[in-house]
Amino acid sequence: MGTQQALAKVNLALDILGARPDGYHELRMVMQTVSLHDTVSVQETEGDFTLHVDGESFRPGETSMEERAAEAFFRAVGRSMPGISVTLKKRIPAYAGLGGGSADVAAVLRSLRQQYCPDMPEAELERIGLTVGSDVPFCIRGGTALAAGRGERLTDLPPLPPCWLVLCKPSFGIPTPELFALADTRQYLRRPDIEGMHLALRQGYLEGIAAKLCNVFEELLPPQYKEVFVIKERLLTLGALNASMSGSGPTVFGIFRSQETAERAAQALEREYTKTYLAEPVGKFQV
Ligand code: C5P
Repeated sequence: MGTQQALAKVNLALDILGARPDGYHELRMVMQTVSLHDTVSVQETEGDFTLHVDGESFRPGETSMEERAAEAFFRAVGRSMPGISVTLKKRIPAYAGLGGGSADVAAVLRSLRQQYCPDMPEAELERIGLTVGSDVPFCIRGGTALAAGRGERLTDLPPLPPCWLVLCKPSFGIPTPELFALADTRQYLRRPDIEGMHLALRQGYLEGIAAKLCNVFEELLPPQYKEVFVIKERLLTLGALNASMSGSGPTVFGIFRSQETAERAAQALEREYTKTYLAEPVGKFQV
């Protein structure tokens, strides 16, 4: 059924508007697909659903997000699920704020649609994706988008102008629910100016976009995660136009105009942080 790249995302802006009765939070985000990716192969096989991650097999019965997505897909198309084997080569770090798990699920769903239901509209695939995770609909679509609601109400935005991103993840991970739980009692000092970022995107004005990077999760970070701010400072010193945490962290990304400066920054940070990546923005996926 073929092999797909599952691309990571960063949040150029992230605002939390409030808690919802369904246990989720109402968000407003600007999301951007980046070239850092896992590789996902999906095959039809005999027998049960199987998942292999970097050579390790997960027993059938341990229900993964990938399996839940496949079940939701076959339910939606009204046929029983054949044996499906998913093989992941992981490069996107986990618990990083880069949407790695959601990207893998999105790649599985795109493969299944290609094979079993090529006429399924994108909106339907995104709806199936949402049953597995809030970021999956964006990961199905890709590009640059405004995301509202849980993250599933998507509006395409003009693409980020050509630039380079350096992504750097400290050694710890932050579980997303832990940080969301801190959101309910807080007033934020600085909220993202999403209209301003939209205008800068329309103008293709990279410095303006960089100036508008803002993630309210940074204000919620407990003191043990302060290394995030150390990395932000390092990226600025190394020549980034600006830097911000992605999603619920802890990965920090810096935006660079020049490839050479970005490469030098990535090399400098790699000595301290093994999970440092050079990436470029990627546009909307072609269906
Ligand atoms: O949707 P997903 O399973 O990725 O969300 C993981 C967790 O993040 C949820 O259980 C919830 O605690 C939190 N979340 C939230 N509001 C959102 C998205 C996620 O509170 N819009």
